[in-house]
Amino acid sequence: MPDPYHHLRTAPERPPSGCPIDHSFTPLMDAYVADPYPLANELREERPVVYAEPLGFVVVTRMDDVQEVFLNPDVYSSANVQDPVFPICEEAAAILAADDFDPVAVMSNRQEPDHGRIRQFTKKGFSNRRSKTLEPYIRRRTDELIDDLVAGGPPADVIAGLAYPLPGEVIFRFMGFPEADDEQLKEWCADRLAFSWGQPSQEEQVAIAHKMLAYWRYVREFTAAKREDPGDDFASELLADHEANPELLSYREVESILYGLSFAGHEPVTLLLGNALRALLARRDDWQALCDDPERVGGALEEVIRWDSPQIGWRRITTRDTTLAGVDIPAGTQVFLNLAAANHDPRQFDDPEPFDIDRADSRNNISFGKGNHYCLGAKFARFEARVVLEILTRRIPTLELVPDQPFDPFPNISFRGPSRLLVSW
Ligand code: HEM
Repeated sequence: MPDPYHHLRTAPERPPSGCPIDHSFTPLMDAYVADPYPLANELREERPVVYAEPLGFVVVTRMDDVQEVFLNPDVYSSANVQDPVFPICEEAAAILAADDFDPVAVMSNRQEPDHGRIRQFTKKGFSNRRSKTLEPYIRRRTDELIDDLVAGGPPADVIAGLAYPLPGEVIFRFMGFPEADDEQLKEWCADRLAFSWGQPSQEEQVAIAHKMLAYWRYVREFTAAKREDPGDDFASELLADHEANPELLSYREVESILYGLSFAGHEPVTLLLGNALRALLARRDDWQALCDDPERVGGALEEVIRWDSPQIGWRRITTRDTTLAGVDIPAGTQVFLNLAAANHDPRQFDDPEPFDIDRADSRNNISFGKGNHYCLGAKFARFEARVVLEILTRRIPTLELVPDQPFDPFPNISFRGPSRLLVSW
């Protein structure tokens, strides 16, 4: 029986023995959600490997240690990366116990050697050929969304008008989902973010559980329809791979890959665009530098990915007793990799706090992970965000942030970016 995509716990974790304990830290604290860096930096410098009691995870903050974890998948399994962080209530668990809620672990949450077997097919789908064929679509939709934004006049919410819809549309066309379903898919992904990385109330868990079930059933119907009527898209390519090599790629794995990618392929890109605009528009000279020389957009984006990453935390679970930075960690311990802290580690980056679009080594950030699960879409995400920023700097160089607006990221342990960003021009 293959490993399920999400493991659902209804009981709390037991603290591991022998680990130093922090009684207050959780990435869901208000202060951390508002600005994770002061607390992340403090943890990294004072208690680099520590069990955070309110989270139930050992938190790892230094770049070297985070890399050690990523590079040792036999000791640090990724089986928990798509699981709800906290135990879910019995009513929600009962809904998700439906016989047909059966996605299997396939990419980020699958272990070797199966992960490598599956990745050879997903990697092929991300070849330059298919990504490149999307470039005209990315350009056209960016222009159209900017047209609508401008027509509506300032002030406008650049997230609702551009950063939210565009990455979803792009990856859904890549995969073959029909345009008519874009909005529904984006909504389900917001539920999925809350389900796997947030802390929904019991009432919310029940509502979300119904939607997760509907979402998975939708993916299954979509896959079955593509099997009947294939197109020139990633879903059809995977199905053809399955037909040709059923023993190497099962049908359920194809369905589960589509379920996985329908989230991974856009949610962090939306956040990256929001973080980029927030950082660059707050620094007029930087924005102007990009308007004057679009060649600098790539470097600026890399610094955003380091300095204010859309993905600031990720997870692992130990498969055996081990030691990290001198701290004993027993088998079965949940580990929280604090990517925000590692991306600001002064052992890795000189003077890490200032935002510097010319920083030479921003690319050494850990935001896309490392090792066998290194983000499959890293190149694609960078490319898409670069195209969007190049077009924006050319079309609306006078773009600016509306002053004194609240910053309201959705509270969760892994993803970070503005839900709303008001701009004028
Ligand atoms: C700025 C945007 C993005 C960030 C910060 C990001 C970050 C990450 C991270 C940290 C991982 C590592 C997971 C692990 O080691 O367990 C990962 C894996 C993955 N990402 Fe991304 N991602 C981004 C965009 C994308 C896009 C656009 C796609 C697809 C088009 C994508 C697809 C994937 C897939 C399929 C995996 C799993 C790879 C595997 O386990 O073999 N990501 N991503």
